[in-house]
Amino acid sequence: MSDLPLRKKFSRSIGNGALGMLTNGCRPITLNSRITHVQHLLFLRSSPIIGSMQRSTNYRLHRATLKRSAGPKESAIGPAGLAIDGSSGSSMYRQLYDRLQSAILEGRLRAGAKLPSTRILARELAIARNTVMGAYEQLLAEGYLEGKTGSGTYVARTLPDAVLNVTAVRTAAPGKRNRAQLSRRGQALATNRLGFRYSDPPRPFRPGTPAIDHFPFDLWSRLLAKYWRREPAGLLPYTDPAGYKPLRQAIANYIAAARAVRCEAEQIIVVSGAQQALDLATRLLLDPGDEVWMEDPGYNGARAAFLAAGVKPVAVPIDGCGLDVARGEKLSSHARLAYVTPSHQYPTGVVMTLSRRLELLRWAERKHRWILEDDYDSEYRYASRPVASLQGLDKSGTVIYCGTFSKVLFPSLRLGYIVVPAGLVDSFRGAKAVVDRHCPTVEQAVLAEFIAEGHLARHIRRMRMLYLERKDALLEILRRELAGALEVHSHEAGMHVVGWLQEGKRDSVVSRRALELGVEAPALTSYRETAGGRGGLVLGYAAYSEPQLREAVRILARAIE
Ligand SMILES: Cc1ncc(COP(=O)(O)O)c(C=O)c1O
Repeated sequence: MSDLPLRKKFSRSIGNGALGMLTNGCRPITLNSRITHVQHLLFLRSSPIIGSMQRSTNYRLHRATLKRSAGPKESAIGPAGLAIDGSSGSSMYRQLYDRLQSAILEGRLRAGAKLPSTRILARELAIARNTVMGAYEQLLAEGYLEGKTGSGTYVARTLPDAVLNVTAVRTAAPGKRNRAQLSRRGQALATNRLGFRYSDPPRPFRPGTPAIDHFPFDLWSRLLAKYWRREPAGLLPYTDPAGYKPLRQAIANYIAAARAVRCEAEQIIVVSGAQQALDLATRLLLDPGDEVWMEDPGYNGARAAFLAAGVKPVAVPIDGCGLDVARGEKLSSHARLAYVTPSHQYPTGVVMTLSRRLELLRWAERKHRWILEDDYDSEYRYASRPVASLQGLDKSGTVIYCGTFSKVLFPSLRLGYIVVPAGLVDSFRGAKAVVDRHCPTVEQAVLAEFIAEGHLARHIRRMRMLYLERKDALLEILRRELAGALEVHSHEAGMHVVGWLQEGKRDSVVSRRALELGVEAPALTSYRETAGGRGGLVLGYAAYSEPQLREAVRILARAIE
């Protein structure tokens, strides 16, 4: 067996009897002696697990007697399910929180199951007890766990995501293949927060959704029909992975005019949304184990792309000028890439100042690093003209720029673009071909015409006016109904605002209460890599009418009380 050396070593530390149990694969065993009261079941399956146990020799299994058990209410977690990776870029707190949350959502930890005490779990995972307490507290606040005074911590009987209509993945039937059989790369790919399935229509204040009911359906369907009426045989075979040429040209013209991006159409790769741009750039430019600067708080889609590729996101704080470059240099001087949303930082809304942009560009040029600029909603700027892109200031070819049509048209279109230095075009083209060959051509053709005929610019102008009205309405309602309880700084751009709660108020608790009452107001904490910081709620407004916003604020007020 490939794990033989590990098994030998492990047997020395816990004794051969226990090793016998390990060979049972998935058989649950209970740690007895001083920790029987926590009814802590471990699933020991494979060498990585033994490896992770071995890493924590202060696990002190040699002091505990391992004993079979199959109590119906016992929890099924342990190093196997949690697999905290000391070398991962994600903080211990964040990893433990994510692992526990996934175990609950996937049914590996069942409703009512008892969790080990923070002391025991900290010892087993060889991490600080405060870290475990932080993760438990967060999950308690979010409703995944419930505490019973004097008798420990349990998986909640009513899960918050049931309210969100998230369908939890059921545990595979015994003997069937499941997540534990995934490769290590597969586990990294599958463990993220993006896999939630929204089964209900957007409701206030779910962020990131445009006003879909104001989309020019007639125009779009006329264009689509026109292509299909012509029997578009030329558009149906396999085509250039980099995208439909007229669309690449239309995008290049559009971003040159609207975003001051400097590029030729040849440098555009059409992708299925910004998410694919982040994934391709990560895999093409970085190796597993590399560090990247990640805005904190920041976009979970980018974090997921990094972690899936084995890249370590280093949380760099945001101040009033944007990503703090000096702190980034201190936190990780050898990071190979910085991920930024300079036009409108997600989710805080900070616009990166010119001097900070220049500082970031100097860093990248001097140290031969990459900057990944995510320009996801820059079209919506209300007080002045849109701020020019970082890419437009770049003289040394360090910026990889990406944009999306999810916000200006609709998310399920799944079309976006990435602008890469000329020398990398063929590499991106090759990678895109492996992932999905290319994006659907008829939709690309329709979009090319939509842009070239000026419909996109007109639609954006109309939406900018609508969103400004909605933003002003929301701010006015918040001022009237929630003055003192929620502080909103002026947001001159984007499709959401951040409502800052009073110091000491937990945003995850408020967010959960709001969800139970029917309003989505994601907690700022859910975008953070590090625990702590002032609590806030991310309030999307673009997709919702004034009466909807008014009603939602009334409900939010009850959640904040
Ligand atoms: C910061 C950021 N980048 C990108 C996206 C859009 O991703 P996609 O184009 O994959 O829909 C979003 C969507 O919410 C976002 O918030």
